[in-house]
Amino acid sequence: MDKKSILAIDVGTGMVKVLAGRQETDGRIELYGSGAAPTAGYVRGVITDVSALAYSIRQAIECVVMATDSHAAGSVYLGISGSMLVAQNSMGTVATATSGSVTNADVERACKAAVFSVANSEYEVLHVFPAKEVITQLGAALEVETHIVSAPQSILQGLSNALSESGIQLNGIVASGIMAAEGMNKELPGQPANFIFIDIGAGVTDISMYVGGCLCSSASLPLGGDYITNDLMQGLSVSRAHAEEIKRYYSRLSPNLRNQGIVLDCNDYGTVDKHIPFDFLYDIIESRVDEIVTLVYSYLKPLQEEYLTNQGQAFEAIYLTGGCGAMPSVATCVTKVFQIHTETVKPEGLAAEYVHPANTVCYGILKHGSRISANEPVAGRSAWSLLVHKAKKLLKI
Ligand SMILES: Nc1ncnc2c1ncn2[C@@H]1O[C@H](COP(=O)(O)OP(=O)(O)OP(=O)(O)O)[C@@H](O)[C@H]1O
Ligand SMILES: [Mg+2]
Repeated sequence: MDKKSILAIDVGTGMVKVLAGRQETDGRIELYGSGAAPTAGYVRGVITDVSALAYSIRQAIECVVMATDSHAAGSVYLGISGSMLVAQNSMGTVATATSGSVTNADVERACKAAVFSVANSEYEVLHVFPAKEVITQLGAALEVETHIVSAPQSILQGLSNALSESGIQLNGIVASGIMAAEGMNKELPGQPANFIFIDIGAGVTDISMYVGGCLCSSASLPLGGDYITNDLMQGLSVSRAHAEEIKRYYSRLSPNLRNQGIVLDCNDYGTVDKHIPFDFLYDIIESRVDEIVTLVYSYLKPLQEEYLTNQGQAFEAIYLTGGCGAMPSVATCVTKVFQIHTETVKPEGLAAEYVHPANTVCYGILKHGSRISANEPVAGRSAWSLLVHKAKKLLKI
């Protein structure tokens, strides 16, 4: 790996995943390698043992180093998620530098003012997204509503220190769910301006809500595919690994197999009695999927009303990703519950082995890191130029 390489680390409930790559001049992400290691010290978005987590991250990086036969150099970005992230909206108001005109610098100052008004010495701001602009020409004031995501200093510092002791110097810590959404944003064919991006992993569901093309709300809910796996473990009396296999096997089958008396051979090494009726699996898995989706819906419904329904608008698409988002029945259930067009998305244009919804977060982090390396506008700032353009249109300048 050369100095321009980016290591994108996604701390997930199940696995720590790492992708190493670099953005080519044509914008494509060129991948050098990947690695993964079972996660320890992190449960459903909560760090329970920072040293154990740092060790898992180290192991995942070592996989990349061994696979690429090179030492880990370049920039390292780490994605986190869960209840340690605090998302809030804040308004920043500034007088424009030149009366009657709005510049990038004005918008940047308005965003800083918004951050300042919610600043808390115990939290570090990870991202600032301009979400909605209110431009008042009286006195040439610019008001920018921002979506701000922060995390406790103590947790970030503890994690950075533990990684530093393992020889890993971080260039940045980012919010995983937002990176997934921002990484795919504008890459999706026919993408509407108002949409919801949902990353369902093993233990956490990250939600990013876009209105008018801008991120206006985000959240990390402690829900995910582990809920289904745990139920299969109990219902079928199998190990966790075996339950995972059965879940993945089931998700490749058509729901039309129901009510046909079909019995599946779900045996693994060491078992002989796991001949399970398809209908039995269907009932366990689909009930849990329904519960997960209904909980996400209960969280999102009031927000949908707050942001759009009151203005007579609607969300036009839901994009699903994350390992659990790969289950066809999750997409079917989301369409049924939300009554909105739903698509499962994954990073395209990579070597086939990486094209999976579980890699969307790493792909988004890679893109974020590449833009920083190239001094391009990064997630959270990329929308600023759009905002300046809109502001100029409103001011007719
Ligand atoms: N093909 C598949 N069919 C069904 N489930 C799958 C499939 N692939 C992955 N999963 C499930 O997706 C989940 C893992 O997804 P992912 O890798 O996105 O989670 P994570 O990033 O480790 O965790 P989190 O983001 O929740 O902290 C597991 O519950 C796994 O069983
Ligand atoms: Mg994840």
